[in-house]
Amino acid sequence: MKAFVHVGKEVRYSDIDEPLAGKGQVKIKLKCAGLNHRDLNIPNRRGDNPEPLVLGSDGAGIITEVGKGVSKFTVGDEVLLNPGLGWKENSDAPPEGFEILGMPDHGTFAEYIVTDSDHIERKPGHLTWEEAGVLALPALTGFRALFTKGEIQKGETVFVPGAGSGVATFLILFAKAAGARVIVSSRSESKRNKALEIGADVAIDTNSDWVESLKAEQIDLVIESIGRATFNRSLGVLRKGGKIVTFGATTEDEITIDIRKFFYGQYKLFGSTMGSREELRQMLNFITEHQIRPVLAESFDLAQALDAFDYLKEAKQFGNIALRIG
Ligand SMILES: NC(=O)c1ccc[n+]([C@@H]2O[C@H](COP(=O)([O-])OP(=O)(O)OC[C@H]3O[C@@H](n4cnc5c(N)ncnc54)[C@H](OP(=O)(O)O)[C@@H]3O)[C@@H](O)[C@H]2O)c1
Repeated sequence: MKAFVHVGKEVRYSDIDEPLAGKGQVKIKLKCAGLNHRDLNIPNRRGDNPEPLVLGSDGAGIITEVGKGVSKFTVGDEVLLNPGLGWKENSDAPPEGFEILGMPDHGTFAEYIVTDSDHIERKPGHLTWEEAGVLALPALTGFRALFTKGEIQKGETVFVPGAGSGVATFLILFAKAAGARVIVSSRSESKRNKALEIGADVAIDTNSDWVESLKAEQIDLVIESIGRATFNRSLGVLRKGGKIVTFGATTEDEITIDIRKFFYGQYKLFGSTMGSREELRQMLNFITEHQIRPVLAESFDLAQALDAFDYLKEAKQFGNIALRIG
């Protein structure tokens, strides 16, 4: 089968053996996969590994084979992959052994994938294949950050720096559906306009003076994923006693914070990462109830995955990037 793999020093589109479903497993013919920031970082993390690894954490498709012992699914079922492996019930942090699909296990940038029947969910009926393929990892990350950790309430104001990111578009859609006020920032005027189009109440320039731009606002919650470039500025516009949830560091991990300012402000800082299967199911119910659809930035054929990587590297996207398969 065709797959997009990391092997040795390169990532390439190549032929690899088609997998077979074992006991308790299903084989899925993938219709679409979703590209995430993580996929860009994995080749660096693996180094010169000679074993080919199929990249990709997100995908959706049709079951073509079920292994012995699988009773909940059958051939022909339309499903999406849960990218979080080994985190079933909700908990403060993932359990030992938690892994993300696409390393060390083969991921979704391929014509077929075999996985435990525990690691799939039914595709929400209102979504297209592309929408279902890009959904799980960014939407689950946004859901946990906003609801489980941020505990956003109706009428509260949330600020999301970096409006165009895959997760940020879900944060805008989810927070609006929950009745919150949403403020975003972006360096790009066109992304700011798109954020307003999908429901954000206010969109400011990331390069502006945030204290000045937001002086009329009371920000209860900031969801931070840019890291060093914005973290302290995010803290600077949060109301006293407010919460900041961080799940990413696109622009470097290490920052210096003024601890005195932090404790006088009585802020609350939470780390978050993806989410449990329980939260994935809550998120799928939430998007079905509110008929929420992912924002698709761009679609590429699987064979053009390298172009998709460049597109993501250059932060051109507003929303999620789909890889069409077959
Ligand atoms: N922990 C987890 O479970 C988890 C899950 C998903 C993602 N993540 C991490 O979260 C981050 C966001 O992921 P994503 O895939 O949603 O992001 P993404 O689509 O790559 O977008 C990153 C955003 O960051 C902003 N940005 C980039 N460089 C910037 C700079 N120098 N100054 C200001 N803004 C800058 C851009 O905003 P504008 O172009 O709008 O200005 C861009 O939209 C990544 O670091 C990713 O690794 C973590």
